[in-house]
Formats: sequence, C-alpha cells, structure tokens
Amino acid sequence: MDDIISIVNRLQDTFNTIGGNSIDLPQIAVVGSQSSGKSSVLETIVGRDFLPRGSGIVTRRPLILQLIHTNKSQDYAEFLHMDKRYTDFEEVRSEIQSETFRVAGQNKGISKLPINLKIYSNNVVNLTLVDLPGLTKIPVGDQPSDIERQIRQLVLDFIQKPNCVILAVSPANVDLANSDSLKLARSVDPQGRRTIGVLTKLDLMDAGTHALDVLNGRVYPLKLGFIGVVNRSQQDINSNLDIGEARKREEEFFAESPSYRNIAHRCGTKYLAKTLNNVLMAHIREKLPDMKAKLNTLMGQTQQELNAFGDSTFFGKPHRASLILKLMTQFGRDFVSSVDGTSSEIST
Ligand code: GDP
Ligand code: NA
Ligand code: MG
Repeated sequence: MDDIISIVNRLQDTFNTIGGNSIDLPQIAVVGSQSSGKSSVLETIVGRDFLPRGSGIVTRRPLILQLIHTNKSQDYAEFLHMDKRYTDFEEVRSEIQSETFRVAGQNKGISKLPINLKIYSNNVVNLTLVDLPGLTKIPVGDQPSDIERQIRQLVLDFIQKPNCVILAVSPANVDLANSDSLKLARSVDPQGRRTIGVLTKLDLMDAGTHALDVLNGRVYPLKLGFIGVVNRSQQDINSNLDIGEARKREEEFFAESPSYRNIAHRCGTKYLAKTLNNVLMAHIREKLPDMKAKLNTLMGQTQQELNAFGDSTFFGKPHRASLILKLMTQFGRDFVSSVDGTSSEIST
C-alpha cells in the first residue's frame, strides 16, 4: 500500500507542473493559531530543522511538504520550483524564506501560491503535509486590516476539501474551548471524522494538572482522537538542542510521567507520524473510486483535445496535451494496477 502514496505524490507533481488541480489529492493540513507549535510538530515529524522561524507571522505561503522514505543514508530535499538537490537543511530554510519573500512580498502579507518541497530520508514515513499560516486575530505592522479573514480563507481553501485530513494543533496550556484550530476544523468537519487533535506543550501545563481527559477523548469528540506531544522549548532551540535528542526526551517525558505513562504508547511524535501514515493510507483507499473516475474523465478530455488538433506538428497546446496524456496514461496505469490490479478500468 505504501506504493499508492508515492503514486499519489507523483500525480500531485504532475498536476502542479501542468498548472491544473483536477484531482483533489489527499493531504494532511496543519492548522493552529500562531505559536501553537505547528512548525515544531512538522520539524519533529521530519526529524530535521528546516522551517523558517521567528516571532509573528513566519509562514506566509502554504508549504506542501512531501516526505519520501528512502534507504539512502543521506537525507536530501528538492523544491519543485528549482532544479537543485539540497543536503544542507539550513539552505532549505533560507530558500523557503526567499521564495516566501519573492511571492508574498517583504511585508507581512500572505499568498495562496504554495511552495512545494520534497524531503527524502530514511527517518520518515511517506506523508504529504501542508503547513499553513497561523490563525491570528490582530493585524501587526502594515498587515491589511482583514488579515484574519485572509488567513482563515486560505486555511479553509485547504481544509474544506473532503479529502483533507486536518491536523488541528492546540497548546495544552490554553483552554481547549478557546482553540481556534478546533473551531475552524469543526466548521468544515462537524462530525470530527477527518480531524486529528494534536495537543502540544504538555510540559508547560500548570503543576498538578494534566490533559488525560482530552487525550482519552472525554472532552472533545474526534473520531481520530487526540495525540499529545512535547516539542522543543524556545530555550531548547536557542541552545541548539538536537532534534533527535529532543525526541528521546519526549519519549522519556511520557514514559516517566505518572499521568501519562499508562498511555505512553499512544503519545508522542513517533506515534503521531505512524498514525498519520495509517490515516493517509485509509483515506486514499476510501477515495480511490472517485479519483479513478476523475482521472478517466481528464484523460478522455485530453484525448479529445488532442484529436481536435490532429497530428501535432506545431508547438503549443497540442504539444502540452500530448504531454499530459502521456503522463496521465503512465500514472493511471501505475496507479490502478498498484491499487487493485485492474489497469483496464482506465481507458487510454
Ligand atoms: P507555530 O507558530 O505554530 O509554528 O509555533 P512554533 O512551532 O514556532 O512554536 C512556538 C514556540 O513555542 C517556540 O518557541 C517553540 O519552541 C515553543 N513550543 C512549541 N511546542 C512546544 C512544546 O511542546 N513545549 C514547549 N516547552 N515549547 C514548545
Ligand atoms: Na489553535
Ligand atoms: Mg510556524
């Protein structure tokens, strides 16, 4: 089944390259208020420091992040917008920054145009994650007065798609009733069928309190439940605490905590990553018939377009159409055969 995810990733690339978005591919979108811990969660899932950080609004374009498991010992990253292989993740961070500035401007504005990044590593499971700007209430600097609405709309554009899995991040040291991410998730997923709750900052809760009720699903109903994590604190980051070391400390936190040790096996970043992979696979499986139908329609349309232009001896549209058709046919075959071995269902 892991193959399906890699094919879905390739399909996504194809559509991004040809500028279409005809198939709603399953994705996991990370949603939360500013400073709730979204970037930290993403970085610990990836096991790498690579996201721009700073105070205020840092993520100003959607970042579509494909994690690809390889057996190579050297991790590397590639952007869709340029032909270069990165092994230095500091450089990845600055390229995300430059690309953000290039499209979303020098100020605090946001842009809907995503940045596409792939990370190849033997420490990741195959996942596609989308990092989104943090939900905010008050405009800062020269942000437009409607920045809250703009960000909300951008986040909604992603999470309202029925095949988007919502990773709703809430800090454990703030009352869950005030969680912006859960409010927004509920507005598009009222039954809590495709929302995973992530509770960050468990280490920052007041002494003598704990979040067991939330983690055991007794406070807020989500079919996929809540997973508690402990990310690096600002002080950890300032003192360059290694991300692997931080993961170890997180495991110890749960294993040794009198409150959480009984549920330690379903807490922490490692468990979160595994859960995400399972959810993503189940989700893709569920959406397959629909995706197959859409792929068929698109291929039919492209074939028609190609026929209308006849045997293409000139450049432009026909060339593009034949390229698309070739890609679609190839992916369609891989896709269907890897799913259920009935490649004849997609006509070419
Ligand atoms: P984002 O704005 O949602 O992307 O949040 P960040 O991941 O940038 O985190 C904001 C701040 O909270 C940073 O200083 C992090 O170090 C800190 N932080 C995030 N998660 C945790 C956590 O689980 N425990 C502690 N102690 N600090 C955290
Ligand atoms: Na939130
Ligand atoms: Mg962030």
